Amino acid sequence: MSSAKPLLRVLEGTRVDPPPIWLMRQAGRFLPEYRALRAKCPDFMAFIHDPVLAAEATLQPVRRFGFDAAILFSDILVIPDALNWPVTFIEGEGPRLSPMAGPGDVAALRSELDLARLAPICETIKRVKAELAENCAFLGFCGAPWTVASYMIAGHGTTDLAPARLFAYRYPKAFRELIDRLVEASIAYLVAQFECGIEAAQIFESWASAIPKPFLEKWSLDPIRRIIAGVQGKVKAARFIVFAKGCALAPATIAKMTGAECIGLDWRLDPASLDSLAPDGQIALQGNLDPVALVAGGEALEAATGRILRGFAHHAHIFNLGHGIVPQTPVEHVASLVAMVRGFHAFAAERRTA
Ligand code: CP3
Repeated sequence: MSSAKPLLRVLEGTRVDPPPIWLMRQAGRFLPEYRALRAKCPDFMAFIHDPVLAAEATLQPVRRFGFDAAILFSDILVIPDALNWPVTFIEGEGPRLSPMAGPGDVAALRSELDLARLAPICETIKRVKAELAENCAFLGFCGAPWTVASYMIAGHGTTDLAPARLFAYRYPKAFRELIDRLVEASIAYLVAQFECGIEAAQIFESWASAIPKPFLEKWSLDPIRRIIAGVQGKVKAARFIVFAKGCALAPATIAKMTGAECIGLDWRLDPASLDSLAPDGQIALQGNLDPVALVAGGEALEAATGRILRGFAHHAHIFNLGHGIVPQTPVEHVASLVAMVRGFHAFAAERRTA
């Protein structure tokens, strides 16, 4: 049965005008109401695991901007945490985990995901679901195994992922075991998210750019394929967006290799080149405004938005950024972006009927 929610219709392969819009990392520090909520709970992991606070953080951007999707407020690193590899966040710096030194650390992980530790997240999903407007889709997410493993191995974020690559070369068997554990854990976690009420999921491969091309399939795309197939084996209607930032393959190829219904494109791709990269109608596409153009606003934002709306005009398209929103983004710029995306189509339709 065809869905009434615009974003879910796009995931079925339908072109919708105006394209539905949401923004990666839409719940966060650029919103004054988020900063006020966050001040109530300085420990970020505790904040994520508090269903009242996390549900409120999920709903804030949807209420303010009328986005076409809410994304669960959580983090990709709740999975290592629930595999007994504890995660903390340092204010202004980011995540901290104990670095993985070798195969013994992989063997020390819990064999199965601690679903009790994730129970508050399921509770968040149920609370949000009860509050969402009827045209607003609900997205869950997880990190792709390579991106999640990179934080577990280095113990923090790195710019080139050298520690993760070194681990993969030095301990190929243990690395494969780690990826396999993360595939299984992600399947269990996403199935739980769908059972609690999400309607589609995004898989964040934020560090695809750091993978040498000969290893792309093995380290990234095949594990993602196994997650999608594993979830769809249990939840038939589960739909997926794969965001593989900086992946050196065409969107149609990524879709084919992972089985995703929609491919998220990062801000470096020129929408004018889409017809050769993703031939019409084959897959849904999401993206790809430069988050820095959204900070700049004004003419730069108008020009970039127009270029995207024209470039994607013949595709099933979800308007989004080409990576997460940055904290210094002015809220007024986000409001004018939403108005532009919705207004541009009204304007184009008026001209067609005139
Ligand atoms: O609004 C949403 O998109 C939902 C919530 C969400 C968060 N993290 C909340 C968050 C989502 C989808 C994520 C995904 C995530 N987390 C990714 C993939 C997406 C991407 O941006 O590439 C990654 C790599 C992480 C890991 C992570 N979490 C890092 C490296 C950091 C520190 C850097 C940063 O952006 O602050 C976080 C912290 C984090 N996750 C914050 C938020 C709102 C900021 C924490 C705060 O409020 O103090």
